[in-house]
Amino acid sequence: MIQFRIDEERCIQCGECAEDCPAEVIAMDDFPKIINEDGCYRCQHCLAVCPTGAVSILGRNPDASIALEGNMPDPGRLETLIKGRRSVRRYTGENLDQALIDELLEIAWHAPTGVNNQSVLFTVVRDGEVMDSLREEVMARLAEKQDAGGFPEGFVGQYLSAAVNGWQEEGRDIIFRGAPHLLIASAPKNSPCPVQDTHIALTTFQLMAHARGVGTVWDGIFMMALAVCPDLTAFLGIPADHLIGYAMAFGEPAVEYHRTVQRGPALVNVVRKK
Ligand SMILES: Cc1cc2nc3c(=O)[nH]c(=O)nc-3n(C[C@H](O)[C@H](O)[C@H](O)COP(=O)(O)O)c2cc1C
Repeated sequence: MIQFRIDEERCIQCGECAEDCPAEVIAMDDFPKIINEDGCYRCQHCLAVCPTGAVSILGRNPDASIALEGNMPDPGRLETLIKGRRSVRRYTGENLDQALIDELLEIAWHAPTGVNNQSVLFTVVRDGEVMDSLREEVMARLAEKQDAGGFPEGFVGQYLSAAVNGWQEEGRDIIFRGAPHLLIASAPKNSPCPVQDTHIALTTFQLMAHARGVGTVWDGIFMMALAVCPDLTAFLGIPADHLIGYAMAFGEPAVEYHRTVQRGPALVNVVRKK
């Protein structure tokens, strides 16, 4: 049941909800009505687009939404956030406030998903002590693989060998960079867009994290570790039918950046009229 309700006192019969519905399941009578409940994919555009807050769906109260008018970020500041974000590879090791982690995940949950599938699973390490034991576990499993000659040739093997050797010889963690937290985004392999959904969710998490002073780094070396030690997936409690999109280490930065980098012009291929 999608619980589509119209507050007739508020509805001005503008038809915006019907016009904007991507699934075309709303029609205008005197008031908007649902003509194909099964076709609704729960995007809530009807609730979001209504100028008077007359539409409720899925039991949501439109007055509980964040009003958009006058509330959008200044574009210049947003540009600074995008350009000022850096991969953070030095962390204080302090646990983040748990409420902050929850807030970041709740915001990242608003990232778009293909066909509004909303099936991205956030597997999160919320506590530095858990992270310490995961780090030990990953390093031990990798060392075992290395001893058994189980690393692939090429750069994956080189990175993983460097990770094991750095850990064993100097206690240096080049996999998680000493971060106290880890986020892994996965989604059912049979969902419409699991790769894209997980990446977009992590990107959204990352930007909001940096806006709140939390450092992040995409964790490609951990992805390599997962590839050579696939049993880690079950160890982490990630469902076997999930595709693991990517992992991101995060935490309180022990480094401060003072300016943006300067990347130079973007690579652009303009399609012209033939
Ligand atoms: C998909 C992906 C995987 C990455 N994996 C790692 C990693 O395993 N370790 C690491 O230190 N940085 C990793 N990075 C960070 C990149 O090296 C970094 O984004 C790049 O050098 C640009 O620096 P910036 O993020 O500070 O702008 C990764 C980045 C991406 C996008």
